[in-house]
Amino acid sequence: MPTHSLFPNIQNVLGRSGRSLAGRWRTIVDPYEAGRLSIYGSPWSAGWYREFPFRPGLAEYDFDRSDLLSVPGDWISQYDRLFFYEWTVWYKRCFHASLDEGRIDFVHFGAANYQSRVYLNGKEIGAHEGGFTPFAFEITDKVQDGENALIVGVDATRRADGVPGTQTDWWNYGGITRDVLLLELPTVFIRDYQVRLGDAGQIAGWVQLDGANAEAVATGPVRVRIPELDVDEELTTDPAGRAEFSVAARPSLWSPESPKRYEVTFSSAEDEVSDRIGFRRIEVDGNRILLNGEEIFLRGIAIHEEAPLREGRAFGEDDARVLLGWAVDLGCNFVRLAHYTHDENMVRVADELGLLVWGEVPVYWNLDWENADTLENAKRQLRTMLERDRNRAAFVLCSIGNEAPGTPERLSFMGELAEHVRDTDDDRLVTCALMAAQEEGDMVLDDPMGEHLDVMGCNEYLGWYYGDVETLPNVQWRSKYDKPLIMSELGAGALAGRHGASTEPFTEEHQAAVYSGQIAMMEKIPFLRGLSPWILRDFRSPRRVLPGIQDYYNRKGLVSERGQRKLAFGVLQRWYEKLEEEG
Ligand code: GCU
Repeated sequence: MPTHSLFPNIQNVLGRSGRSLAGRWRTIVDPYEAGRLSIYGSPWSAGWYREFPFRPGLAEYDFDRSDLLSVPGDWISQYDRLFFYEWTVWYKRCFHASLDEGRIDFVHFGAANYQSRVYLNGKEIGAHEGGFTPFAFEITDKVQDGENALIVGVDATRRADGVPGTQTDWWNYGGITRDVLLLELPTVFIRDYQVRLGDAGQIAGWVQLDGANAEAVATGPVRVRIPELDVDEELTTDPAGRAEFSVAARPSLWSPESPKRYEVTFSSAEDEVSDRIGFRRIEVDGNRILLNGEEIFLRGIAIHEEAPLREGRAFGEDDARVLLGWAVDLGCNFVRLAHYTHDENMVRVADELGLLVWGEVPVYWNLDWENADTLENAKRQLRTMLERDRNRAAFVLCSIGNEAPGTPERLSFMGELAEHVRDTDDDRLVTCALMAAQEEGDMVLDDPMGEHLDVMGCNEYLGWYYGDVETLPNVQWRSKYDKPLIMSELGAGALAGRHGASTEPFTEEHQAAVYSGQIAMMEKIPFLRGLSPWILRDFRSPRRVLPGIQDYYNRKGLVSERGQRKLAFGVLQRWYEKLEEEG
């Protein structure tokens, strides 16, 4: 499905005056896409988004008498009959507007999984593909004075040419899964900016003005202020509305121990936007990771975007604070937000708490590697994540995928993604989750993908899917690359409260034994620079169907879906405490 009419990245939407459309939306479940397609399967004019009957008096649908769904929210967790539903749901929300000459209007979606078609007052305003990245449309010329009807068709169908493809080990949560904002912005507004550490003793950045449409000449003076650092600069934009700057300043650097952020404000003739930004330097030196010039070890945990203590997708600041609070309790300074771009609040709260972030796009397992549209989709998701979170000091690792097959087609596809990250933003390290080969009991990480990476991630399940817990401490690791390794997955399943021998799978004792063995092995890997064990919390998966133990949950969490901490939580927590004490 063509993605079209997308407006470029509007930076820091959460910091702007916007109106949330969160709440109860009217919805129609439409498995055959009858709301858009004729009986011959082609788009037709009498689509439900037009809201006029096929013939007067003969309407066979009525949004205003249909079921309600909460937005933000996946539909899976709201109606039992939708638990396995993966096709189209139509959403309708009315809102009142009073037109004002001096402003332009946008509708901004935090995310909707997977394909979205958006209509306002019966007219299509745009379409978007991708289940985990924000998108916005300008609606200035379609908003009417008084009542407006926003209709969104969300299609969660898994696609072989999609990103991800059709196979995942997570639940396909369809819906408008994050907030929807109506943004009212001045006719010339501050659309985007980046502020970061520059050369020694400098803070550098740029700011981009934009207007109602591409033709608008969006230029004018812009002021940038960082009061705590005595920075107050008047900038002059170029004819394209962009201004760059570099000013003398010596900020306290952001780190997990001291996640210092500064109030940064941009002001133009009609607009003003403020942000809280930390300054840090992330780099690799041989097989070490340096934060602000100091070697760092990443004590992490992997997290899926599921609500901590209820069914369904996590969203918003409250869920972020609970999930990341558990990671802090575990002794983490690092979180892997798997396997897709999480809600913006997760990265903002990590920034505040001092948790380094591995962000990821769902280039997961197998894709249609030779499909140009699939590659463009993956690039767009990467670019959107980098643009959205570019001012978050915590966001240090950009992962271009997970456990892709070792084929030439995949290598070419992901090589282009690595290049695209570097072309878009050179303030993150490029990584992805690879898999090691087993050679006479040793683990060898020589995947050719390693050439393209700054940091190698590796998923391994020694002691669970293969290998014996007892032999773990003797397993040797090696790689032909002199690059840092982050063990991006390891672990074992356990049903909280199920106890027994440490050799019995799915007992808490067995999971704890695997963690102990893994720790003994990892302590001897000379180029290991961090880990993000799989996973913080049990999560829904269509592949995990063992009755009485899994019941459509992947049980590798250190915490159950009810918040019960398993024995392995304590094993990892004690090790992280020891590592932190050793410094
Ligand atoms: C893989 C994959 C995860 C999956 C995990 C598992 O490594 O990356 O998404 O959930 O294994 O088997 O539990």
